[in-house]
Amino acid sequence: MPRTVFNDLYYQHFYADNPVHTAEKIHQLATAVDALCAWWDLPVRTVLDIGAGPGIWRDWYHAHRPDVEVQSIDISEHACTAFGHEQKDITAWHPKKSVDLVICHSVLQYLSNAGAAAAIKNISLACHGVLYVEAPTAQDLESVVDPTATDLNIYRRTGAWYRKLLLINFQQIGAGLWLSRSAVVPLYELESASK
Ligand SMILES: C[S@@+](CC[C@H](N)C(=O)[O-])C[C@H]1O[C@@H](n2cnc3c(N)ncnc32)[C@H](O)[C@@H]1O
Repeated sequence: MPRTVFNDLYYQHFYADNPVHTAEKIHQLATAVDALCAWWDLPVRTVLDIGAGPGIWRDWYHAHRPDVEVQSIDISEHACTAFGHEQKDITAWHPKKSVDLVICHSVLQYLSNAGAAAAIKNISLACHGVLYVEAPTAQDLESVVDPTATDLNIYRRTGAWYRKLLLINFQQIGAGLWLSRSAVVPLYELESASK
């Protein structure tokens, strides 16, 4: 399949001209994720933002939780230079020390099956607390995603495909949140979507 080039034109088109998610919407999401971690008494001292793009999550943490250490990475040389990330490929890299919160927002759909599987393994090694993940599935592309605002040059996989790999090392909470199986958080049965 044709590969998306993550260059100036890409970020201009999908973040400035015709955003899928505005910065304001991502700020709402970051506020909610941060608050839910607090609700579960999971301290967020370290964050890894994978495929950070314009760095909206990183910027939210800097503005609202200045004591939190945020590492933002991206494979795109342009994104790293323009938005200030470390250049890393999540299919081939994980941090030496795992972190409290991993964000992987709208990245996995750009990776081949082997790449996404390798990325999920690296994400598992990177996270000892909470993971937030969003990747549109084949079903989302039929029923949820606005095709005029979204990059459709992506891999279409089922939710079951992603879930099978994520459930090896995470418990699904819901709303894009997953709890590392190494975290000790006594979730109420109905707070969680899976065992
Ligand atoms: C749709 S953008 C999402 C940006 C940001 N996470 C957000 O939600 O606003 C996808 C980003 O993933 C990055 N990316 C794609 N493949 C990657 C990989 N293998 N490792 C790290 N980043 C990757 C791209 O360079 C691009 O910046």
